[in-house]
Amino acid sequence: MIQETVLYIGEPRVEYHENPEGLDVLKPRFSWILKGKGRNRSQSAYQILVASSNEKLSQNEGDIWDSGKVRSNSTNQIQYEGVSLTSNTRYYWKAKIWDESNQESEWSTPAHWSMGLLRFSNWKGLFISHDVGYDKTDKYDSLYLPPARYLRKSFMLNKKVKKATAYVTALGLYELRLNGKKLGDANFLPGWTDYNKRLYYQTFDITDSLQQGENVIGAVIADGWYSGYIGYALLVRLDKVREFYGVNPSFMGQIHVEYEDGSSEIIASDTTWKANEGPTREADIIMGETYDARLENSGWDAPNYNDKDWKAPKVYTYPNGKLEAHPGTLVKNRERLKPTEITEPSPGTYVFNLGKNVAGIAELKVEGPKGTKVQLRFGEILKSDGNIQTENLRLARATDTYILKGVGVETWQPKFTYHGFQYVEVTGYPGKPTADAITGMVLSSIETDASTFSSSNAMNNTLFENIRTTQSANFFEVPTDCPQRDERLGWTGDAQTYMRSATYNADVAAFMTKFLIDLDDAQRWYGAYPNFAPFPYSRPDQYSPAWMDAGIIIPYNMYKVYNDTRILEYMYEGMEEFMQFQEDASTDYLRPGGGNNWGDWLAVNEETSHDFVGASFYGYDAKLMAEMAEALGKTEDAAKYRTLFENIKKAFAEKYILADGRTSEDTQTTYALALYFDLYPDDLAEKGAARLAEKIERNGFKFATGFLGTKHVMLALSKYGYNDISYKIFQQTEYPSWGYSVENGSTSIWERWNSYTKDDAENSDLNAKMNSFSHYAFGSVAEWMFQHAVGIDTEDSGYRNIIIKPAISKEMDFIKGSYKSINGTISSAWNWKGNKVIMNIEIPINTRAKVYIPTSNASGVMENDKPLSKFAEIKVLESNDNETILEIGSGKYSFSAKM
Ligand code: BGC
Repeated sequence: MIQETVLYIGEPRVEYHENPEGLDVLKPRFSWILKGKGRNRSQSAYQILVASSNEKLSQNEGDIWDSGKVRSNSTNQIQYEGVSLTSNTRYYWKAKIWDESNQESEWSTPAHWSMGLLRFSNWKGLFISHDVGYDKTDKYDSLYLPPARYLRKSFMLNKKVKKATAYVTALGLYELRLNGKKLGDANFLPGWTDYNKRLYYQTFDITDSLQQGENVIGAVIADGWYSGYIGYALLVRLDKVREFYGVNPSFMGQIHVEYEDGSSEIIASDTTWKANEGPTREADIIMGETYDARLENSGWDAPNYNDKDWKAPKVYTYPNGKLEAHPGTLVKNRERLKPTEITEPSPGTYVFNLGKNVAGIAELKVEGPKGTKVQLRFGEILKSDGNIQTENLRLARATDTYILKGVGVETWQPKFTYHGFQYVEVTGYPGKPTADAITGMVLSSIETDASTFSSSNAMNNTLFENIRTTQSANFFEVPTDCPQRDERLGWTGDAQTYMRSATYNADVAAFMTKFLIDLDDAQRWYGAYPNFAPFPYSRPDQYSPAWMDAGIIIPYNMYKVYNDTRILEYMYEGMEEFMQFQEDASTDYLRPGGGNNWGDWLAVNEETSHDFVGASFYGYDAKLMAEMAEALGKTEDAAKYRTLFENIKKAFAEKYILADGRTSEDTQTTYALALYFDLYPDDLAEKGAARLAEKIERNGFKFATGFLGTKHVMLALSKYGYNDISYKIFQQTEYPSWGYSVENGSTSIWERWNSYTKDDAENSDLNAKMNSFSHYAFGSVAEWMFQHAVGIDTEDSGYRNIIIKPAISKEMDFIKGSYKSINGTISSAWNWKGNKVIMNIEIPINTRAKVYIPTSNASGVMENDKPLSKFAEIKVLESNDNETILEIGSGKYSFSAKM
């Protein structure tokens, strides 16, 4: 077949990033996606060139690496195999491919990456800070919120600069400034890690920001996760409530300047820098920020500033951990929100509604007399009197204060705090604020742009938006449980249950790689993965079945979705220790509950035993371990875990599955878990599924499940053909359901099924202390929405062999969705036209798909109104009583079939 066009390469990435600066992976991995027209297109070979300069690359000279023509259809996870990469060096690369008929593509547009500082000997900087004294007020009854520290260094450049790079980090949080401007667009740097084990640094290309003559580099630093308040420690009065990793935040960094004449120079943080306090009087992630603009040292981060009043910095000890490049994606401003409404519930108290419940900060615009104090407080919902509800923030003070300098219009954004909110309460504002007084700045580590979803039910479309909003709000350096109260921890149960859903909505490959490093660092010495990671508290026994299993389930999904075996290798030893921990805790292959036993957290009306949860997740872990071992070529281990799975399955069935197919506990969650995890004896599974369907129906198509059951109910029902029932739950609007929250005006996913009701706003105060309106766990229905309603899944790892199996049902008129996989965008849409179903499908180049059409009559299936026999590229694989299965290559298809 002659193709209309040659293929071309798009979206070249290195280690999941576009043109990343400062990698420290010694053999980085390349990926791209393929674009072009026609059907059945694929790659048969590729070539990658890596050069030391753009010039060399443009002459097709791969002086660093030339892979040669490699016969392979891989477009991702292709490992660099050239000479050793060196510190502080930029590499330029491009690729070309050959298609299925050996037609050669053009070279891809040149891309690049740079290596960071790979050796300890490359680091010249000292950890420095400003000594603010140490006033440790009573740790439980009053807050200790020290001011931010300001550091500056003036330096001269008298020769022409060829290239300049800054490498910086902080124990605490930093904002880097150069010649009066913030460098980069990320916040909350250098990120959160177990600082005793590793500390991340960032790399900035500053070539274009330098000038001849005087230059000034500046840093503002604050406590952050290093020494500020973290989580619920204050609430439950732990031995420590802040300073989990150290007492004083400090900064370390250096600038590498390379001159045109071949010489170079390093300007590193040392005692020649200058240190001071400034306008930021308080800066804490969960408590908020206070900024006194009257104390601004205007021009401090730019040339021509007199720093005679600044002090020499204090030098702090070097941390014990490794110094590494941040592997994830960084917190950035993703969206600006204009208020949709301003109210004044009491004189002088203004409430700005930003339209949706997000994580971030508010930008304040104000004009007024010097010394005026404007206070911002944040809430997710309003009370019946129109004031913000803050009870559910618990001990998160979440208050920002700005004190005016009184010079024209003043615009301010805090740097080192964030809040979970839809409403901003403004008090102390001089005059009546207009709409531009407050702008919502949505902060997140991810862009939720990987999927689209629409259906004939408007409520479900809102639900999809709410899921994305809440994922964005909680993918904040780590996957947090919630962004508003004094928690914001990387809770592992929430993360594992939501993991696959997360992958549909956003490219979370790099973000989750970073979190898995946190999880591996946080693994307890006895093998359990803890309740959250990083794990700063000195509590020895914090683990729980279905939470600790994140250490298996998240890596598995990284493999399944992104074809990433490197992260499996990284995690493998720890995963084995965890499996051993479980084996030791088990009797006759049954792992009991244990640890904190959260169970099917926040379930309604039905309780599943902790032992059941423990046993079922152990079985699931064994199953996933077998697959992961296989992927790593560890055949013996794979066999070992397969046998373990079979043994667990047997023991599990004996204890929990009755002869009539019911579970001994007969809760929705028990069926959902056992069926989804394949723990049912083969001859009883259908009966178990029928019982689950019956139970749901008897319960009025409503849930009785919590964090664990909810995700698996519809996955299990659809697995056994009960799509109609899944749709009934999906479209349910009575409590408990997602529809209930949407009908009550929610813009986000709630922690509880009954977090709030419109008719009874006061009711929202009932369990206000433990009631978040931004908790993604129940958003785990996204997995079902894409795998079943839209019908996009992967058969192998990494969506090379795609499954298009939409749950076509008379319960919906249409469903339409798309997912951007690592191979490109997959879309699937179906709708009814009388008794005919139309399926519009597109799968990317270099992939194949099995398409499941719910008809037994294969010869009645049409593609664009023509019989399938007219298309050589469409194979009928199978046609049985329930469905016809086709195999297709890349391209767009429109199938129709009479039902
Ligand atoms: C968190 C949850 C978490 C749970 C454990 C809560 O405080 O917000 O999402 O998984 O604790 O029970």
